[in-house]
Amino acid sequence: MKGIILAGGKGTRLYPCTISVSKQLLPIYDKPLIYYPLSVLLLANITDILIISTPRDIEGYRELLGDGSRIGVKIAYAVQDRPRGLADAFIIGADFIGDDSVCLVLGDNVFFGQYFSNILEQAKSQAESSGAAIFGYPVKNPKEFGVVEFDSGNKVISIEEKPARPKSDYAVPGLYFYNNDVVNIAKNVKPSARGEIEITAVNNVYLQRGQLHVTLMGRGMAWLDTGSPNGMYKASGFVKTIQEMQGFYISCIEEIAWRRKFITTEHLRKLGEELKMTEYGEYLLSLTEE
Ligand code: DAU
Repeated sequence: MKGIILAGGKGTRLYPCTISVSKQLLPIYDKPLIYYPLSVLLLANITDILIISTPRDIEGYRELLGDGSRIGVKIAYAVQDRPRGLADAFIIGADFIGDDSVCLVLGDNVFFGQYFSNILEQAKSQAESSGAAIFGYPVKNPKEFGVVEFDSGNKVISIEEKPARPKSDYAVPGLYFYNNDVVNIAKNVKPSARGEIEITAVNNVYLQRGQLHVTLMGRGMAWLDTGSPNGMYKASGFVKTIQEMQGFYISCIEEIAWRRKFITTEHLRKLGEELKMTEYGEYLLSLTEE
């Protein structure tokens, strides 16, 4: 399975912070926001990754992450010239995806929770064997998201994008697993009223085909909002609190790469030495003594 991180957009809700810097390069506490969705792909054992961003910002991501060899994976880059919608990722990424299945994670989505790796493995195999796998997560403000509608038997009957009257409190997080059909489906999606080719339209095609798995994430999972200054601030506080309490870092890409055996202990030590002027570097070095 291939992985795509969509890290473009204008980030207007974070102006003035994002007038000259891409949103997903801003910090959530001690690491750039894009480390969090990148960690999701690494946890899912996806090592062939495409990062899509704006013509202005793509070089910033290349400078940060290079070809991926630092963490034992392959990272390629592609440009989206304007924000045409999330499903555009599969059109821009068509050659990269080739004949494979694909996971899309939005560059501004942060996840944390126990058994998350198992949830990811399950979604991967559901998409590969039967079509598509997405998630539902209870939120207080469903109007701001894609929303899942259930019938009385808890069967999913529709997904609506930012509905004025949400039919449930379950939002669809920005993490999607699809078989190879997604490329053709995306190419045939018509732009919505707001002019975007919506991921929700793609999900509805899979739903109509009877190929959409929706797994509800429970209270044990954290899905954090980074859409506003307040969201960024709260997400940073969450990461800081958990890291200080547990001593384990959240979404440390070098640690995941090492635990997944994409890199050796020797290599991790080198990465730690390079950053040893920071607590982050000290943390990497401490792992090598485990
Ligand atoms: O976060 C989950 C939600 O993400 C879903 O529940 C919605 O169904 C889905 O449409 C999306 O809604 P948002 O309104 O939050 O998406 P937004 O336009 O903010 O874009 C999400 C990320 O993707 C953000 O980091 C910018 C990037 N992006 C977005 C678009 C539309 C791109 O890189 N290119 C694009 O064309």
